[in-house]
Amino acid sequence: MRIDIITVSPELIKSPFEHSIMKRAQEKGLAEVHFHNLRDYAINDYGKIDDMQFGGGAGMVLMIEPIDACISKLKAEREYDEIIYMTPDAPTLNQRTANTLSLKENMIILCGHYKGVDQRVRDLFITKEISIGDYVLSGGELGAAVLCDTILRLIPGVLGDETSALTDSFQDDLLSPPVYTRPADYKGHKVPEVLTSGNFPKIEEWRADKAYELTERVRPDLLEE
Ligand code: ADE
Repeated sequence: MRIDIITVSPELIKSPFEHSIMKRAQEKGLAEVHFHNLRDYAINDYGKIDDMQFGGGAGMVLMIEPIDACISKLKAEREYDEIIYMTPDAPTLNQRTANTLSLKENMIILCGHYKGVDQRVRDLFITKEISIGDYVLSGGELGAAVLCDTILRLIPGVLGDETSALTDSFQDDLLSPPVYTRPADYKGHKVPEVLTSGNFPKIEEWRADKAYELTERVRPDLLEE
């Protein structure tokens, strides 16, 4: 998988890709991530990439020309399955979207900034819009990092234990059951007996019950879906 991230702040977004699972995905040759500084496509020598909005109002808007120049250059080099725009006014990211995107070959992710991008960018180039939640970030970079993390960990071979992504919360619309490790008794606080019983059918049954109970209590909306 190849991901091209277009941003006005490459330094803001690079770090999460240099650690942990996202680093491992790249080291194993299972993912390639490239960052493109929108300023390199500015419309003048002063680095201009944004302007005031027509009709008046606070906040600068990212212009179409630099974004067109960057996306067109990338599209001339290879085919893209999706061109994603990170923005709060879009459907919210969920595990299903992450699963679908983890099967793609090449993707561009455009990070919004300031007041957003000229609507014509969205109309002409963007194939999918994603929000990471009902709150406003200063830019799409942190959202793009979250999106990439959810996707890259699903690529077969990235996680050491092949099954662990499948037992994550949300994979079956249920939250994950509680987990415990040693010691079995911590200052009188004991691990549920079933988990140390060695009775694996019973353990699975306990986990399923707990997952359901937890989901019903903290995220009943998932059960309605
Ligand atoms: N940019 C600003 N806020 C955002 C959000 N909630 N999700 C994705 N991109 C954003």
